[in-house]
Amino acid sequence: MTDARAALFDLDGVIVDTAVHHFAAWRRTAEELGFTLADEDDERLKGVGRMDALRIVLEIGGVEVDDATAARLAEQKNARYVDAIGGISPADMLPGAQALLEDLRSRGVPTGLGSASRNAPLILDRLGIADLFDAVIDGSTVTEAKPHPRVFLAGAEALGVAPAACVVFEDAIAGVQAANAAGMTAVGIGDPAVLTAAAAVIPGLHAVDALAAHGITFAGAARTRLEEEHA
Ligand code: BG6
Ligand code: MG
Repeated sequence: MTDARAALFDLDGVIVDTAVHHFAAWRRTAEELGFTLADEDDERLKGVGRMDALRIVLEIGGVEVDDATAARLAEQKNARYVDAIGGISPADMLPGAQALLEDLRSRGVPTGLGSASRNAPLILDRLGIADLFDAVIDGSTVTEAKPHPRVFLAGAEALGVAPAACVVFEDAIAGVQAANAAGMTAVGIGDPAVLTAAAAVIPGLHAVDALAAHGITFAGAARTRLEEEHA
């Protein structure tokens, strides 16, 4: 049973449908280096920081480059990614994301963002949901990338909630590992066959009510019937 006192969210693939743009940009990098990324490679690239993702791409292609070339490739990938998300709007939010954030806010459950992306503040701004987070920890604040737990531990600390009382919503294997390493309850967003280390897996935030059957609830939800009637 987990009666969570705070919720931490990954961004890409949980709140907003940007994972596809990250992968498309890496595919172009690979093509220019003379190899192809397979669909399955996407799972390895999710959740990991930009330079770690580049290292994985190069490893898949069996390509070695010097540091200056690596920096240029990462910069070029990011320029393409930023270009691809140029037109991002609230319509790109994944089903249930905004409703859950607003619901938690109305119940007084603190919320935090724990993203590896250095583009996170820009995306939150474009989606108009920055003020639905009590704390934002992203790839520019934290250098240890997922599966290291730092991004989520920093989120819990900023919210003033013990790690064991935090639920993390994650679509990436590396992110679920980071949440587990932080001693938090990891809720996978996606395929249970992929996110095998998560405490529970749901198809999206719109299905959050299904977590109660897994013993995962939010402390703020424990309103009395009287409070419900007057809510
Ligand atoms: C994560 C994505 O959220 O952010 C990864 O899942 C990405 O695919 C990482 O590599 C870093 O993002 P950015 O925007 O800083 O390059
Ligand atoms: Mg993600």
